Amino acid sequence: MDFSMTGPYLASAQRYEHMDTMYNRCGKSGVLLPKVSLGMWHNFGGVDPFERSRAITHYAFDHGITHFDLANNYGPPAGSAEETMGKLMVEDFAAYRDELFISSKAGYGMWDGPYGEWGSRKYLMASLDQSLRRMHLDYVDLFYSHRYDPNTPIEETLQALVDIVRMGKALYIGISNWPLEQLKLATQYLKERDVPLLIYQGRLNMLNREPIDEGILDFCHEAGIGFIAFSPLAQGLLTDRYLNGIPADSRMAKEVFLKSDARTPQLLDYLHQLQTQAQASNRTIAQEALAWVLAQTGVTSVIVGASSVEQLANNLQVIFS
Ligand SMILES: NC(=O)c1ccc[n+]([C@@H]2O[C@H](COP(=O)([O-])OP(=O)(O)OC[C@H]3O[C@@H](n4cnc5c(N)ncnc54)[C@H](OP(=O)(O)O)[C@@H]3O)[C@@H](O)[C@H]2O)c1
Repeated sequence: MDFSMTGPYLASAQRYEHMDTMYNRCGKSGVLLPKVSLGMWHNFGGVDPFERSRAITHYAFDHGITHFDLANNYGPPAGSAEETMGKLMVEDFAAYRDELFISSKAGYGMWDGPYGEWGSRKYLMASLDQSLRRMHLDYVDLFYSHRYDPNTPIEETLQALVDIVRMGKALYIGISNWPLEQLKLATQYLKERDVPLLIYQGRLNMLNREPIDEGILDFCHEAGIGFIAFSPLAQGLLTDRYLNGIPADSRMAKEVFLKSDARTPQLLDYLHQLQTQAQASNRTIAQEALAWVLAQTGVTSVIVGASSVEQLANNLQVIFS
């Protein structure tokens, strides 16, 4: 694919042509999110080709994907996905800032010492300031606590999130990977302070249904909180990527976050069944897997990862298939 640019980026004039089908309301809020959002955990780091990252984000925005999901530690190296986003903000998206919904998170290990992870006020405040600098933003649209910290008083973490909104550094608050009981406490605490919880981010796909089994999805739906599913393709397992082996350029080949022992005979049997089911609906395996997540009551959006424009284009078609 030719990534060379001939001039400044000009977004497609057709980017909102599917307004009616493209977006879901995020819980009981004023925010509409695209049913398919773009995640930058992989493929947008300092180790990845910048022009490919750029092409994927352009394709996304040109097709109405207004939501880009980041975290302080995405890369590698940690922080570099936000730097990529920052470069894109300056060079391509500056004129479109108000059309973008950009999220970041803090919770996992980001810097050395006692203040570089978990849920203290000290860490969350400092981390968000770093994220804003890396992304060349005045504020993020959405800031998440990336994981629940059992050793910090829950009120400290939540009050830091409230204050972040009050300071204008984030417009909305989300939480990710929190257990149900703490999610309920957070919902109440934030509501009482007029900073309602916008969204919960959890892993949900055909192979991992924990948010359903644990009652998180139901709770969010009933409480008017949006739910956004991460790894909806199980990091690529629920696609045709591994049907005939392990491609050298795949996430599994790196053996870090997705290990080759996940490619079991049972998985391949499951994929072949899914392929038959997908073909009957005129879909790819990936589209079938995304359609399943989007069909769950309470799901606002799926955050997909993509290592090529073609993958993202394929995934986006789930909305129209
Ligand atoms: N809150 C959290 O704790 C948390 C945790 C994980 C992720 N997330 C968020 O969720 C986002 C998505 O996570 P994810 O990357 O694991 O999502 P995913 O959509 O389940 O997996 C993405 C990977 O699947 C493969 N793929 C995607 N579309 C494909 C297609 N049409 N055909 C074949 N292969 C395809 C690609 O693998 P290859 O790279 O091998 O091509 C791609 O990198 C992250 O970027 C992040 O924003 C959040």
